[in-house]
Amino acid sequence: MERILARKACKLWSPCVLSCSRNMSSVHGCIRYKPSQPQQTIYPQNSGLLQRNLQKNSTMILRCFEQEKKKEKTMSWKAFGVMTLCCCGLYAIYEYFEQERKKEKMKAAYKNVGSPQIGGSWILTDHNGIQRSSKEFKGTWLLIYFGFTHCPDVCPDELEKIAAVVKHFNSKPAGPKIKPLFVTIDPERDTKEIMKKYCEEFTPELLGLTGTKEELQDIYSKFRVYFRYGEPDNTGDYLVDHTLVTYLMTPDGIYSDHFGKKSTLDLIKENITLRMEKYSSKS
Ligand code: NI
Repeated sequence: MERILARKACKLWSPCVLSCSRNMSSVHGCIRYKPSQPQQTIYPQNSGLLQRNLQKNSTMILRCFEQEKKKEKTMSWKAFGVMTLCCCGLYAIYEYFEQERKKEKMKAAYKNVGSPQIGGSWILTDHNGIQRSSKEFKGTWLLIYFGFTHCPDVCPDELEKIAAVVKHFNSKPAGPKIKPLFVTIDPERDTKEIMKKYCEEFTPELLGLTGTKEELQDIYSKFRVYFRYGEPDNTGDYLVDHTLVTYLMTPDGIYSDHFGKKSTLDLIKENITLRMEKYSSKS
């Protein structure tokens, strides 16, 4: 009966059947009981030898223990070294990408400041009735002015400045030349004939440009030209309120600079010279 109960208990403890005590297994017999080796009898005359053996063994154990400790220490230093290296590596990678990101940001900011989205390709008709496009002016510095021939004072003043600048650069035996363009903002009144006569008054190099409503609207939006027609007087004459900007375009057709009413002739000449030098040093 005792054996049956013991077997049941053993089944219940099946995962740890080997942990059955020696006494228990001897009772229920699920694990064959192997009698241990007969123990060595300790005689009093062997006690000295035993003590020496014990001392020897303990010294060896201590040595082993010390060696293990040393190994552990070395390992921990190694692990620390590897961890430090990994951290340094990760930090270096992070720094590299951070610097690259900053550089890209700076480039983007510089690009926005240096090259505003002004200008682009266009097709218009000149004061001789010939269709002209921005493509045929590639390779030449351009000064583009937007105005109207009926302007009483401001447009003539600006065009006089442009004519003087063009004369300054184009009269030089060497160096880049400039082509001045006058784009009308009043196409109904500025006919080809009127424009031709008007432009020649300033310089024969000034080319008047007009076009269809769509063509003109396209170039106005590309150069961000603002204007507003005023109320006509008794004679039907009216003024046009408009932006007073002369754009300087590089031989690549890219915006380089702009000049306004306050820009003096000397300042414009100096500025254009610097822009030209900078451009030629790049290309
Ligand atoms: Ni004007």
